[in-house]
Parts: sequence; structure tokens; C-alpha cells
Amino acid sequence: MELRHLRYFVAVARARSFTRAAAELNMAQPPLSRQIQQLEEELGSILFARGSRPTQLTEQGRLFYEQAMQVLERIDDMQSVMRRLQHVSRNRFSMGFVASTLYGRLPDIIRAYRAARPGVELILLELTTIEQMAALKEGRIDVGFGRLPIDDPAITRVLLRNETLIAALPLTHPALRRKTPLGLADLTDETLIIYPKAPRPSYADQVLSLFRERGLKPAALHEVRELQTALGLVAAEVGVCVVPAAVERFRRDNVGYRALDEVGAVSPIFMSTRSGDISGEIGLITGIIQDIYRKNRIVFGR
Ligand code: BEZ
Repeated sequence: MELRHLRYFVAVARARSFTRAAAELNMAQPPLSRQIQQLEEELGSILFARGSRPTQLTEQGRLFYEQAMQVLERIDDMQSVMRRLQHVSRNRFSMGFVASTLYGRLPDIIRAYRAARPGVELILLELTTIEQMAALKEGRIDVGFGRLPIDDPAITRVLLRNETLIAALPLTHPALRRKTPLGLADLTDETLIIYPKAPRPSYADQVLSLFRERGLKPAALHEVRELQTALGLVAAEVGVCVVPAAVERFRRDNVGYRALDEVGAVSPIFMSTRSGDISGEIGLITGIIQDIYRKNRIVFGR
């Protein structure tokens, strides 16, 4: 039995049709049927109930399907690990990150990693959280820092911290001079500027859910591609924006910031790696982050 037999078998089982599976595999149906027949002869078992529409697995076929899936998943994992080893042997390490993490502790992490690994070429790629998932699986990055909790068995996700959210307001906004606490309800008379516009879901949806969960609706929405554009429009008095607290450290003319007095107004920062990545680099990065958090009195994992 060869690997291709497993791939053909799984393709037919999934498509529940020899014709559709052949089209997906870019081959004609007769050779695909012959390959499945060969597999059945070799196993001494009938895997598909012939004549069934859609094509059904037999009892033995179902058992074989479970085993075949495990083997193929294991092979996918092996391929990822090999791609990763290629990186290490080329003395490269790649980090993917969403832009807003550059306002937080990412620059400290990059400096500390470079100091710990002077001989390693560090590659930095700005990617959305969704793009990071594909890049990890394809071996284009080794670690990703994002804000969305995307479930994928091939990816291990660790919550680093929940970053507090604050309001970015035009300098003329009365809330900047008010003494009472500011809530999301105080922002609903304004145009809410959200980013990034695409791909979705994104940080924009996290902000919108905060309003929705409280039964609030901003007067209008203005979607932009990125944080810098959003802050530019706040400066221009087009509207207000909800941003991670670290953004406040990068002062910009005509924009003021105020804390939000809202429980749960946070945005998580996650670290994603390939499941089963046993390289020491992930341990090193985790240690670096824990160290930086300790120095800045940030609690890891909360
Ligand atoms: C942080 O700000 O906590 C952070 C940013 C990027 C990567 C890891 C942590």
C-alpha cells in the first residue's frame, strides 16, 4: 500500500463520489476506481458499498477511514516539522505579528531575542491573525502574535495577556475634560472608527461586540484599513476610536486618550505556534516574554 492509495481513498470518502473525487484529484475516474480496487484487494476488504448513491463507506471502510486520517495527519505534522528544521538549519526564525502588537511589548521582545540569538536571522512579517494560521502551517513563520482566538488542532495557542482598551478622542472632545469615568455608552453619539476593514473577523469585530454585548449602537461606523488611519481620522474630528492601551504611549497631535470604565473592555494577545513544535526557540521566546512582563509588572496569562 502506498501513500497515494490513502489520499485517493480519503478523497472518495470525503466527496462521497468517485466522479467528484477524481475531479478534485485532477485525474480521470477509471484510474481512480482501479487504485481503490487495488487497495481493497490488498486489504482483503470492501471499503465502499458499490452502487450506493452517494458513495457510502462500508463498516470496514469507516474503520479504515479513521486510521487513514490519523496517518495522513501525522504525515502533515512531519512535513511541518521538516520545514521548520530547514529554517533552523538555515539559522532563521520568523515571527508573524498583528500591527497593534508593535505598540505593546513586541519591540522589547524582538530586541531581547536578537540579543539572545545574535547568529540567527530574525524575519518579521506583519500578518493578520488569520494569515498567521496559514503561515504557521506552511512553515513561513515559527511563531505568531495575534488577537483572535482561532481554534485549529494544528496550532497551539497561548493567552499572553488581556490588554486593556481605551478611547482615542479628538482633543476638542468634552470627555477629555470631564472628571467622571468614561463608558462605551458615552461614545455612541459619535461615529465609531474601526479597523482593520478586512479580513474579517478581526479586532474591529471584537470592538463591535463590546458595544453589542451592552445593547449599545454607535451613531455611525467608519471602517478603515489600519490603526494609523483610524488615529488620523480621530485627529481630524471625524469620530472616536477604541484602541489597545499601549497605543497611548505613541502620542499624536490632536488626539487625546481616556481610560474606559468598563469591565471586560480588553483585547487578548495570543501566541500561536505549530502543535508539536519541540524546538527550543518557542521555549526561549516564552521565557523572554515572561521576563519582560515581570519587569513591566504585567501578569502572564491573564
Ligand atoms: C504584548 O504587548 O504583551 C506582546 C506583544 C507582542 C508579542 C507578545 C506580547
